[in-house]
Amino acid sequence: MKKIRTAILGCTGLVGRQFIRLLDDHPYFELSFLSASPRSVGKRYGDAIADGLPADISEKTASLGIGEPTAAAIAGSGARVVFSALPAGIAGGLELELRQNGLVVFSNASSHRMDERVPLLIPEVNAPHLELAREQLRVHPGFIVTNPNCVVSGLAMALKPLTAFAARAATVTTFQAVSGGGRHGVAAWDILGNVIPYIKNEEEKVVGETKKILGTLAGKRIREHGLEIFPSCSRVAVKEGHLQSVSVEFSKPANEAEIAGALSAFAAEPQRLALPTAPRHPILVQEYADRPQPLLDVHAGEPAAARGMAVTVGRLRCRGSRCSFFLLVHNTVRGAAGGSVLNAELAVSQGLLAGVDRG
Ligand SMILES: NC(=O)c1ccc[n+]([C@@H]2O[C@H](COP(=O)([O-])OP(=O)(O)OC[C@H]3O[C@@H](n4cnc5c(N)ncnc54)[C@H](OP(=O)(O)O)[C@@H]3O)[C@@H](O)[C@H]2O)c1
Repeated sequence: MKKIRTAILGCTGLVGRQFIRLLDDHPYFELSFLSASPRSVGKRYGDAIADGLPADISEKTASLGIGEPTAAAIAGSGARVVFSALPAGIAGGLELELRQNGLVVFSNASSHRMDERVPLLIPEVNAPHLELAREQLRVHPGFIVTNPNCVVSGLAMALKPLTAFAARAATVTTFQAVSGGGRHGVAAWDILGNVIPYIKNEEEKVVGETKKILGTLAGKRIREHGLEIFPSCSRVAVKEGHLQSVSVEFSKPANEAEIAGALSAFAAEPQRLALPTAPRHPILVQEYADRPQPLLDVHAGEPAAARGMAVTVGRLRCRGSRCSFFLLVHNTVRGAAGGSVLNAELAVSQGLLAGVDRG
């Protein structure tokens, strides 16, 4: 297959760097354009992130120049697919302009996640929602696909197999890594030795996005799932990985063996299609009493191309009709760049990029 010319927006940020790592040698996509803020424009990529360039990034990618973050420059570069890791305030308008220019945008920003015609996608959970991209193509020359907030990427994955047990409500308390706030997100002075029990707009996103993802496609709309969700979000002094304490209430009694079985047996379209970034098992159930831990489990996922793409669940306890567990998701991989790349791989497998020029 001839590779598709691809751009990364926000390439110098924490999510952008994961995009670079994942797309440096990808079977479907070829990096042809990078952009970041006007501060970085004109620099060679390897020099712009001299502090954080992984050793295994190719010289070809390190040598790419950073271009203007404008629709004219991005579309003019010949890129057909765009991975966006921009701050939401900038992503909103620019992604619409790119769609109007006939480009296909896979975005991490929150700007369009709740738009009626935009899929908010986790390929293992709601692959049929990608149909909304075809709906966009009826009225626009391109389309936008988003991936959820980093907490939701792990939470919705674990809840999906549990919906079969008539889950009624989920209470979730998060312990979120500092990288979730971006490279300049939380000052060391504020977080070291501390826990901050508030992240602006996070709890609203956890509720709205989870209900959209678990919802069903009815005609051209998503009917949101009726599960009640009660989130409490906090920031902790961890570098990578969002740990979540989840308690699910079912309509009837549940037991640990059946819930653990459903979680570890869970597999879907990406596994069936063996997409390049799909983990063999999207949910890993840890048997050790003191896991998952960010330091030990954040990179879960096999094969090597899927490191950080599996969600780890542990400490499962059921009593009556309630089961509690911890889960861990890599916020910048499954919760951001990796999720976006898997979305794009699914779109390719469904022929959605068939009309896109290559090479
Ligand atoms: N971090 C996570 O765990 C996570 C998870 C899910 C979703 N997200 C979302 O992903 C996006 C990126 O997050 P991040 O954590 O990677 O943020 P980040 O580390 O702060 O990186 C932001 C990127 O955007 C660029 N940028 C800043 N202002 C710009 C402007 N005016 N025009 C064009 N580019 C600009 C920056 O370029 P310079 O380096 O030149 O400043 C940098 O490349 C955000 O929308 C975030 O909400 C993040």
